[in-house]
Amino acid sequence: MKEVIETQVVIVDRENPDLAMIQVAADLIRAGELVAFPTETVYGLGANAFDAAAVAKIFAAKGRPASDPLIAHIYAIAQLEQITHTIPDIAWDLAQAFWPGPLTLVLPKRACIPDNVSAGLATVAVRMPNHRVPYHLLRLADVPIVAPSANLFSRPSPTTAQHVMDDLDGRVPLILDAGPADIGVESTVLDLTQPIPTILRPGGLPIEQLRKVVSAVTYSPKYAAMAGETMATPSPGMLIKHYAPNAEVLLFVGRRGKVLEAMRLATERRIAAGKTVGVLIADEDGEQFAETGATVTTLGSQADLPHIAQRLFAGMRALEHQGVDVIVTRTFDRHGLGLAIADRLIRATEGRVIEVDN
Ligand code: TXA
Ligand code: MG
Repeated sequence: MKEVIETQVVIVDRENPDLAMIQVAADLIRAGELVAFPTETVYGLGANAFDAAAVAKIFAAKGRPASDPLIAHIYAIAQLEQITHTIPDIAWDLAQAFWPGPLTLVLPKRACIPDNVSAGLATVAVRMPNHRVPYHLLRLADVPIVAPSANLFSRPSPTTAQHVMDDLDGRVPLILDAGPADIGVESTVLDLTQPIPTILRPGGLPIEQLRKVVSAVTYSPKYAAMAGETMATPSPGMLIKHYAPNAEVLLFVGRRGKVLEAMRLATERRIAAGKTVGVLIADEDGEQFAETGATVTTLGSQADLPHIAQRLFAGMRALEHQGVDVIVTRTFDRHGLGLAIADRLIRATEGRVIEVDN
């Protein structure tokens, strides 16, 4: 049976965190325990990267398959050499340009990192968060900290401490609460062990930004069906069922006018059939659904993709919390953070995208 532990939530100031409290968290990490903490992207569930038994607790707490590797977090660029080797110049250039920040680099792994961190792969993913809380936590713990998003497996990533509590209450001793995450989607994962740097997961650092430093970057999304649990896939984040909320999600893709028409029709049909419907849309779309009887959650202006990204997972969770049967939503522009937004929405539908003809 799984051990139930009491979960403590402690509020810490984002800019000027109480170092005595962070020391308590660092001591827990050094003692082989888990700590959930904020980052600029989403909340993470951390453990000592050098401690295989502590790392195993992450998989148990999340219900995460062992085939899904973890990201190691560091607070100084120099730590990269502690955990990876054969580091190409481009990695240093990218670290200089974008760390601390929402970029994760995949590089050859040193033997000091236990195999369960990387699902048995010869590589390890590394990033330096842009947030004072993990900065001090990493500094005081004095070890790299592996941390997946602090949600139960295949649930939307947590962007507030309350989301972490909703999923992990009784499974983690301490949650550090520094308020909502700024970016709201996870880091961009870039594989530097391929002949051409390859985006494995679009995220908080837009591809346009990456291309300013590395001109050749490839990204070709493959939304594979659930792979066998024993196989370490190149990027398990590619598994289609990865951000699925409890409700059925209908994702509409196409020109906005036609899409809104189709969304309204689908909403009205479901409501007529006795279902409760939540609509997840841009501010500008809201009035189209005013009379439908659906619960409307707006994410921000469609022109403000950072705002939409910041509210995306919170919006999914809010609608779930209301107990809606169906979530009706659409894609937005694909530039900047739009690529990550589209990716998360496609995963939430488990691939059932509805293309509306123009
Ligand atoms: O923003 C973020 O990256 C957050 C915060 C907490 O830092 N973390 C996060 O971790 O999103 P997680 O575990 O939810 O996603 C990690 C993903 C894996 O699912 C996989 O796609 C990729 O990173 N990954 C990790 N190690 C890898 C490796 N060795 N090779 C390829 N992909 C890897
Ligand atoms: Mg995750």
